[in-house]
Amino acid sequence: MSHEDFPTENPAVVTCGLPYANGDLHIGHLRTYVGGDIYSRALKRLGQETAFVSGSDMHGTPVAVNAEKEGVTPESFALRHHEKYKETFPKFEIEFDNYGHTHDETNTELTQELVRTLEDEGYVYKKQIPVAYDPDADQWLPDRYVEGTCPYCGEHARGDECDEGCGRHLEPGEIEDPVSAITGNPAEYRDRNHRFFRVTELQEYLQEFIDRLEGTSNAQNQPREWIEGELQDWCITRDMDWGIDYPGETEDDLVLYVWVDAPIEYISSTKQYTERAGADTFDWEKAWKESGDIVHIIGRDIIQHHTVFWPAMLRATDHVEPRAVMASGFITLNGKGFSTSRNRAVWADEYLDEGFDPALIRYYLATNGGFQQDVDFSWEKFRNRVNNELVGTVGNFLYRSLLFAHREYEGTPDADLSAEVKERIYDAIEEFEAGVNDYSVREVGNSVVRLAQFGNEYIQGHEPWKLDDGAEKRQVIRDCVQIAKAIAVLFEPVAPGKAEKLWDDLNEDGDVHAVGVEAALDAPATTFDEPSEPFEKIDDERVEELNEKLQARVEEASAETESDESDAEESADVTDEHEPVLEDRIGFEEFQELDLRVAEIIDAEGIEGADKLAKLTVDIGVEERQIVAGIKQLHDLDELPGKKVIVVANLEKAELFGVESNGMVLAAGDQADLLTTYEDAEPGTRVQ
Ligand code: 2FM
Ligand code: ZN
Repeated sequence: MSHEDFPTENPAVVTCGLPYANGDLHIGHLRTYVGGDIYSRALKRLGQETAFVSGSDMHGTPVAVNAEKEGVTPESFALRHHEKYKETFPKFEIEFDNYGHTHDETNTELTQELVRTLEDEGYVYKKQIPVAYDPDADQWLPDRYVEGTCPYCGEHARGDECDEGCGRHLEPGEIEDPVSAITGNPAEYRDRNHRFFRVTELQEYLQEFIDRLEGTSNAQNQPREWIEGELQDWCITRDMDWGIDYPGETEDDLVLYVWVDAPIEYISSTKQYTERAGADTFDWEKAWKESGDIVHIIGRDIIQHHTVFWPAMLRATDHVEPRAVMASGFITLNGKGFSTSRNRAVWADEYLDEGFDPALIRYYLATNGGFQQDVDFSWEKFRNRVNNELVGTVGNFLYRSLLFAHREYEGTPDADLSAEVKERIYDAIEEFEAGVNDYSVREVGNSVVRLAQFGNEYIQGHEPWKLDDGAEKRQVIRDCVQIAKAIAVLFEPVAPGKAEKLWDDLNEDGDVHAVGVEAALDAPATTFDEPSEPFEKIDDERVEELNEKLQARVEEASAETESDESDAEESADVTDEHEPVLEDRIGFEEFQELDLRVAEIIDAEGIEGADKLAKLTVDIGVEERQIVAGIKQLHDLDELPGKKVIVVANLEKAELFGVESNGMVLAAGDQADLLTTYEDAEPGTRVQ
């Protein structure tokens, strides 16, 4: 069953995964929030009734551990970070309709009510389980207080999550060779009574649900193995002081597992929005209990929580299930992970202090690859995207056409919109709408850049500056002003402040944040003043300066933490330095021994259980081949069929994760940038 396209008659709720209130925000954190904000604004532009909500995740060991390090209470620690997030998001034009937190009254009450419902409906039972305990610290070790080995993949993992390996949620007692994160000593397992949610009873429902679920393909596919294979009941209590008290009768003081009350904040936050704005504006009960279109926007590390545990909770408590889950890839900095401890990050405050407009990073994060692909940030790449696309394409079109219109006609000349341009704007609206229905914020952004590109070609092709005043010249300029107006409307989700400024420059009435996409075709104002240049170029010296600052910071942090050699190695990479070229030369004949071929990807799918591997079927002209490549998280696999790549066709066969690999696909760098052909060489063509 597929859902009706947006806009629908239902109230939509767009949510962003709640950030743990436990540290400073860097630009890597912003991806899902920018994505959520763009998506909800785009829905609103389509006329969809929409609430955009989130809040801070105040509980759990991620907060408790950091508060303890600072020697303050988890509550004051989390509240401080919550206030900071609440202040920071709007500076990036991320405007939630409501931003609450999980420790407030609304969420505490609603969480306890829902857990009582689970109990009343017979979904909760008591069970004795082994729980890690640190005898030296005389303390139970929930979640991040214990580390050890993942029983599924053998990688190092922390209590409730295999964060370095297979990414699975781990139940208390599952982690092998447990070590206390408090003292570093081996932990003991001691028996303890806990409460479990019978997720397994909902297996059939979850199987059907996952077939209905829309969003990114990683969120639709990854949960299948958990739902169909190893579905387990879920421990919903923890031995901690910090959290929401378990509402039922227990012999011990237990709090609810953070992953119970965190997603419930999605509902609580919507409820608070209704309480503030009125049910006529948005009815939270209708959205969550009757007929809402719920879209969750999250990082890909929390897919299991949003596609298994959360829909199970919603179902068991008679709430509306999620319509879609959009799970983003991760962000790297110069090809490596962000590291808070090594100060290897571009901090949110720092970005703003450098004087960059939020629109630039919003555009970068939204359009630099599909939502589920990993995205690398470097100041060089940032400069290139800003200079080429925002300045060179969008800004260039807007400034030159509006300046010309103002100088020649003091605004919009008297002419009707041409059929050609009208149709092109219709197409842009359709592309925008398709982007929303394909859950692609990149397409929402790209639809506008393509329209601006068309505008540049249109004005360049007609050269109105060479025309005498007359119908033709007026027509061209009238068309260009209309394209500019359409850009203001359609670019609002990606660059709200810039769209507002453009709207003002165009002397338009009303609020660009409130108009629908159809306003793109409404007649523009007849007069307007000289426009401003919407975007500024970033020069090379600026990039150098920013890289130097970053490098100096990382070095300082490494020195402070007396980091080991591997830290030093990492920091040396900060400015994209490359390995020296190998000294040993090879002869042409040796090179000829490599059989490199152009190939076309026919099919690409992730290998179940492997974090990074994908199975590709490629056409190498003479035959079809199956090749395993480490690109699962780096590329949107759905977009690969049809793409040309270069393969090593005579590489020895190998078996990876039990799957035969017959060849190798060439790719550049940590991001596995796939090598392709410049023109249109046929599959099978030899590369030499
Ligand atoms: O993984 C995290 O950062 C969690 N704080 C996300 C919670 S999202 C939700 F479901 F509440
Ligand atoms: Zn694992």
